[in-house]
Amino acid sequence: MHDPTRATPWTGAAPSGGKPALYRDLAQELDGLLGGETDATANAANAAAAIYHSLPGLNWAGCYSLRDGELVLGPVQGRPACVRIAIGKGVCGTAAERRESVLVPDVEAFPGHIACDSASRSELVVPLLLNGRLLGVLDLDSPALNRFDADDQAGCEALVQVIVRHLT
Ligand code: SME
Repeated sequence: MHDPTRATPWTGAAPSGGKPALYRDLAQELDGLLGGETDATANAANAAAAIYHSLPGLNWAGCYSLRDGELVLGPVQGRPACVRIAIGKGVCGTAAERRESVLVPDVEAFPGHIACDSASRSELVVPLLLNGRLLGVLDLDSPALNRFDADDQAGCEALVQVIVRHLT
């Protein structure tokens, strides 16, 4: 069970060991944070909040859920965003269609990028897959160009494996 009084990645200093350690710690904390609750909306909301406040340099973090064949906005941290995204459209719809992560170093160079927050310059979208079933996507935006690298992608894919276990 998560102890809200204990220091966590989103309230404490970044761990030594760089990004892999940060993501390892965050995955463990997320498992504790979400593990005591079965409500999918509550867990998606806390996942978005924990990620947003743990990873530096983000201006948006949240989930889109797959509903009736399209992506629909779920719990997020950041500015209001477009509510519905068709599969195959934008970075989110592309990740959902391919069922694989899409790392965009420069959103202006991604054809069809959907600009929700004009401050966003780079983006990482990871599909939420549970036993091969697409539940939605996790979307992270940054106001910095090239904010995300292979370590972030691997780290976020590990986070998503924890999150999806607590969404159904
Ligand atoms: N940029 C995304 C849309 C969602 S916002 O970034 C929150 C896309 O191209 O799919």
